[in-house]
Amino acid sequence: MISERGASRRAARIFTVDDARRLARRRLPRGVFDYVDGAAEAERTMRANVGAFDALGFRPRMAVTTGSPPDLTATVLGLRVDMPLLLSPVGSSRLIEPGGDIAAARAAGAAGTVLTVSTMSGYPLEQVAAATPGPLWFQLYFLGGRRGAEQLVDRARRAGYHAIVVTVDTQAPGGRERELRTRVSPPVTVTVQNARRVASQVSVRPWWLAAQARDGFRFSYANAAGMADDTGPMSQLRAVEEWIAAPARWEDFSWIRRTFGGPVIAKGVLSGDDAKKAVDAGASAIVVSNHGGRQLDRVPATLPVLVEVLAAVGDQAEVLIDGGLRRGSDVVAAVALGARAAMAGRRWPMASRLPGSAE
Ligand SMILES: Cc1cc2nc3c(=O)[nH]c(=O)nc-3n(C[C@H](O)[C@H](O)[C@H](O)COP(=O)(O)O)c2cc1C
Repeated sequence: MISERGASRRAARIFTVDDARRLARRRLPRGVFDYVDGAAEAERTMRANVGAFDALGFRPRMAVTTGSPPDLTATVLGLRVDMPLLLSPVGSSRLIEPGGDIAAARAAGAAGTVLTVSTMSGYPLEQVAAATPGPLWFQLYFLGGRRGAEQLVDRARRAGYHAIVVTVDTQAPGGRERELRTRVSPPVTVTVQNARRVASQVSVRPWWLAAQARDGFRFSYANAAGMADDTGPMSQLRAVEEWIAAPARWEDFSWIRRTFGGPVIAKGVLSGDDAKKAVDAGASAIVVSNHGGRQLDRVPATLPVLVEVLAAVGDQAEVLIDGGLRRGSDVVAAVALGARAAMAGRRWPMASRLPGSAE
């Protein structure tokens, strides 16, 4: 439970997303902060994402404006949004802040935009959908294998999600070195042994600890609950193992489209060739993304790839981008280059204690 007054005080100190990061660093245990803030290996790709936006300048046309406020609305897959910035999926956000996906869904709805709910959300996808009248997308990992994924797609359809976002860049777990050092790497399980390992990090962050204690330390992947296969109920660990063993392939897009009956988006494309494959597989939109640099380090920054992907798919699919957007002018740059909209990942969970998101 977050008080609106506390949230307002905190919001008054946040002018940019980097302010939110600074506050999160002070509020979160080291391992939790590093989980959300960090990336793979030497974090070159994460820095390159930000650097590509920093390197881009504007050359505006002069003496053409009419004085009326600019129209920020955009249409993404037929959905009208109040600004061309959507929220990328972030798993385990309940570990960062108990309101997690629910708070983000409400904040996105209030801002007139879309939250993409991760398969690895801390709340069941139905509970997130019930918390907001705003539009939601569902990000798909094959948790529980193909059978589990089929159930997730069907659940998302019944809960009224507008699109399925299939993440194609998670072919193997990313090598995130900060997580090796802090030993905080979801799924976090609460055991005496784990509590001992992180005691020194957590003891200096009593507000986080108190909030999580009130929430019952619910760090599990809520969407895995109730999954089963022929041998009986599936544990969370088994469901994760099934996913890692057989991640999404282009051939899967046809059954996902059939089961869902609405638009399917490919997230994690980094070349014109793969963008064409996504279109051939039936994707209605593509998110140029390198997972915020969290998967394979040394892959290219997303901004230069956006141009290649736009040229490859033409008007056959809508093209979005995420990775490294840290301010409104980055969104303007992405849209000016031809993106239908941009998306933001690791900063939104750091700002989820803002007014309007309180439970
Ligand atoms: C803590 C964290 C968890 C993430 N979890 C997911 C996920 O479950 N599924 C997914 O497709 N992408 C996931 N991503 C990647 C984001 O959706 C997005 O691609 C990336 O964060 C964009 O870069 P940015 O953080 O620089 O904005 C995650 C990113 C972070 C930081």
